[in-house]
Amino acid sequence: MKNENVCEAVDGELKVAIEARDLTKQYGEFTAVNDLNLKVFDGEFFGLLGPNGAGKTTTVKMLTGLSKPTKGEALIMGANIMERPLDVKRIIGVVPEVSNIYVEMTAWENLIFAAELYDVPRGEAVERIKMLLEVFGLYERRHDKSANFSKGMRRRLTIAMALVHNPRVLFLDEPTSGLDVQSTRNIREVVRRLNRDGVTVFMTTHFIDEADNLCNRVGIINKGQLVALDTPERLKQKIGGRVSIEVSLQPIPSLEELKEVSSDVMKTGDKFIVYTENPSITISELIKLANAKEWKIISVKTLTPSLEDVFVKLTGLTAVDVERLELIRPSGRGRGRE
Ligand SMILES: Nc1ncnc2c1ncn2[C@@H]1O[C@H](COP(=O)(O)OP(=O)(O)OP(=O)(O)O)[C@@H](O)[C@H]1O
Ligand SMILES: [Mg+2]
Repeated sequence: MKNENVCEAVDGELKVAIEARDLTKQYGEFTAVNDLNLKVFDGEFFGLLGPNGAGKTTTVKMLTGLSKPTKGEALIMGANIMERPLDVKRIIGVVPEVSNIYVEMTAWENLIFAAELYDVPRGEAVERIKMLLEVFGLYERRHDKSANFSKGMRRRLTIAMALVHNPRVLFLDEPTSGLDVQSTRNIREVVRRLNRDGVTVFMTTHFIDEADNLCNRVGIINKGQLVALDTPERLKQKIGGRVSIEVSLQPIPSLEELKEVSSDVMKTGDKFIVYTENPSITISELIKLANAKEWKIISVKTLTPSLEDVFVKLTGLTAVDVERLELIRPSGRGRGRE
């Protein structure tokens, strides 16, 4: 639902959908979010990544008008949320960290209730609710009390409720936390599709992989402070470090033979890791050497720094802390690129 009352903020060529200006939240002496400044552009998929207690939920609450900032301001499509809460609420959808469904009501009733809150005309609401129930795989269960729903179904219903009024900007606070692989995939796919259809997405997560795979840009927040803000790939480049090339050859040569390509090479299992500042040159030299020695190249992968490396460096969390926080990807560190 477009709201013509909300003027559109423009920064250069790009429309600003969400803006935080010096956003600060204090609870007594404790600063939960400290001077946060960021802009999310129209159509972006933005991820706010941070460990437990970093200030992600507090930030979402201030950006959506659920919590008054101690200092600073939040703007949606150029409108100050504290000054024009009704205008803003019509164009945003909010999926809170804790599902806000009424468990004694059915899925259908919850969605009708959400549509009434947003003043969606009845006919329009019914059509949209049917479509949302289909998209989220809840249509068959629409007349069941949501008390009987699984955690994944409740989460999907919560997201559907945030979408009844067709918002232009969608906030999701840890949408997939605690869900199984199937529900997680389903939710990520639906949100990805919404974003492809033009919805600006602001999602908090503590899953590095989720941020890396879904987001155009990522902010990393730690102890209330925004410590990085960029595309996942640029963040990885910024922390620098050498690129390593993992190569597997047949027959397996000796380490000494591979040192013709680089002095910085090590053997791991039946493969070799060659460290280099210039992967293109090193790969072409590897190919030359393999041809000359008549070795067959089974596989070559370049391993770039991962978003997890960035996170560890910027948050000061050790690999053990990260593992404790479920931040290790199932495939382990140093994701390969073919
Ligand atoms: N109402 C409150 N009163 C006092 N302190 C609060 C309140 N709400 C949040 N905090 C504190 O502010 C900090 C940030 O909390 P917040 O919920 O924003 O973190 P988070 O990044 O969302 O964490 P999580 O990953 O666990 O959801 C925490 O130290 C928390 O204890
Ligand atoms: Mg939170």
